[in-house]
Amino acid sequence: MCGIVGYVGPKPVIDVLMPGLARLEYRGYDSAGVALNHGGSLTVLKQAGRIADLQGLVDREGPAEAHTGIGHTRWATHGAPNTGNAHPHMDCRRDVVVVHNGIIENWVDLKAKLVENGHDFDSDTDTEVVAHLIEEMADLPLADAVRKVMNQADGALALVVMRKSEPDVLVGARRGSPLVVGRGKGENFLASDIPAFLEHTRHMVIVEDDRVVEIRPDEIVLTDLEGNSMPLDERMVEWDFEAAEKGGFDTFMLKEIFEQPHAIADTLAGRIESPGRVVLDELTIDSEILREVDKVFVVACGTSYHAAMMAKYAIERWARLPVEIDIASEFRYRDPVLDHRSLVIGISQSGETIDTLAAVRYARAQGSVVIGVSNVVESALARESDAVLYTRAGPEIGVAATKTFTTQLVAMQLLGLYLAQVRGALDPGAIELQVKELLRLPDQVEAVLARADDVKELTSAWVDTRDWFFLGRSGDFPVAMEGALKLKEIAYVRAEGYAAGEMKHGPIALIEPGVVVVGVATDSHVQAKTLSNMEEMKARGGTIVLVAEEGDDVGHVADHVIRVPSGPDLLCTVTAVVPLQLLAYYVATARGMDVDKPRNLAKTVTVE
Ligand code: M6R
Repeated sequence: MCGIVGYVGPKPVIDVLMPGLARLEYRGYDSAGVALNHGGSLTVLKQAGRIADLQGLVDREGPAEAHTGIGHTRWATHGAPNTGNAHPHMDCRRDVVVVHNGIIENWVDLKAKLVENGHDFDSDTDTEVVAHLIEEMADLPLADAVRKVMNQADGALALVVMRKSEPDVLVGARRGSPLVVGRGKGENFLASDIPAFLEHTRHMVIVEDDRVVEIRPDEIVLTDLEGNSMPLDERMVEWDFEAAEKGGFDTFMLKEIFEQPHAIADTLAGRIESPGRVVLDELTIDSEILREVDKVFVVACGTSYHAAMMAKYAIERWARLPVEIDIASEFRYRDPVLDHRSLVIGISQSGETIDTLAAVRYARAQGSVVIGVSNVVESALARESDAVLYTRAGPEIGVAATKTFTTQLVAMQLLGLYLAQVRGALDPGAIELQVKELLRLPDQVEAVLARADDVKELTSAWVDTRDWFFLGRSGDFPVAMEGALKLKEIAYVRAEGYAAGEMKHGPIALIEPGVVVVGVATDSHVQAKTLSNMEEMKARGGTIVLVAEEGDDVGHVADHVIRVPSGPDLLCTVTAVVPLQLLAYYVATARGMDVDKPRNLAKTVTVE
């Protein structure tokens, strides 16, 4: 989720790049940098921190006469968010500069070969391999070299590359990560997002996947990876700045809901090895220590706690380890029994939630091993854990967690399978089956999102409904809890999440006509029981909505059915929660609420 901008034309390039980067800061802001080509000599300026920090450096050292350049604002995935890892990156001869958004999955292998060939690396990033690969092709025109790089690199990536010796050309390439061309008069732009060039032009050219584009002041050339020329698909941008920042969506929350297929794919990238092994190289905890673990504790708050609930099912089922889960603010005060054989997993998208940090510190003080699961590289949780597993959702701006939740679910499933693998608790064939299903999730979530309008239509009758229940069993239980939390926090209506079987022990007294009861019934081994519980709600006059897999025979119980693609039980948590995010979103917006900034809430809670 980094931001990229590039420019060729008559203007002082710095006057285009710096405002462009400021417009992209919502995509990531842990470091930023620019590379400027002035008459065949290159200046690279980069800085940890925000664009404002880079601006100071540019004001002091930026050559005013440069007219071609590239810029980048970073959201760290590989390598700490420091100045050394900031983009742009260069080759050994300081001839090639590159900025990149995405993940090069096979970068470790590519880097090893380059090191063998004598290349020296300056950073810990996956990106730098691109500069050194192009250095090896010094005799080729830049666009040809970039095509060859795209044929070698696996994963989702968008690149913009510049060469000292070709001062009037930028070459971009795209697979999976966004990249667009802005067409101006006697000037052209390349960017990850439209806001970067919107003040200069409203003409944009779409770059599809596996395309390479060359821009010069008066020319845009688009080719496929074999070098065949492709027609330019040019469009007019009708959005204003605010809409462009949100990718044309009305709110950041909706944009982030729709980013989930990509975020999930990024979180899986490079972590599954054919034919079906989980590879978590970043978990630098000795396998022997993981084999010695006799109990797991998972601590988290809010939405992250719902990911912890799912993690309990995953780790117990697959790794056959007992798991306790705790709301982080409660953990220390119950005096939990911990020792060096306890594995404590702290989940926090921000990595700064003080309750979760305090729980993790407490666990380490008892000698336990701690794994942090966070969306923010080098967050406090990451720094204070023995090892960290990053979700790669990119920055989440809406206060309500959406893409960070589904990527947490995916990360915890990877971790559950990894523990099973290391401990030999699950047959490799069974692990292979699960990981193959995990790889289908991005497409499955895409399929759910394609039906967003159906959810919107459904919710129109319930804008003024004040009482909601969300029910589920087993893996569907955390999904129900999360559905209720989403609705509470953004629509300000009472929504209870409950284990479906628990309703009869009291809360069923609240069911009467006018109450909407959403049942999540994707988990096949408890589905019949969930359906019976929903019948009980129906008999008391509740309006019944069911989230169920394609093909399941549930229509007789429900007033309305929301379908999700079928898949293995725990993996369905990821697809099943998406319609509930949409449901909360459409109810809240129909009620006129500011979903990106719900009242009384903060994105990161740093007080106990
Ligand atoms: O950054 P964290 O994951 O530690 O945040 C935990 C909760 O504060 C967070 O999930 C909160 O519940 C959100 N408002 C949920 O949408």
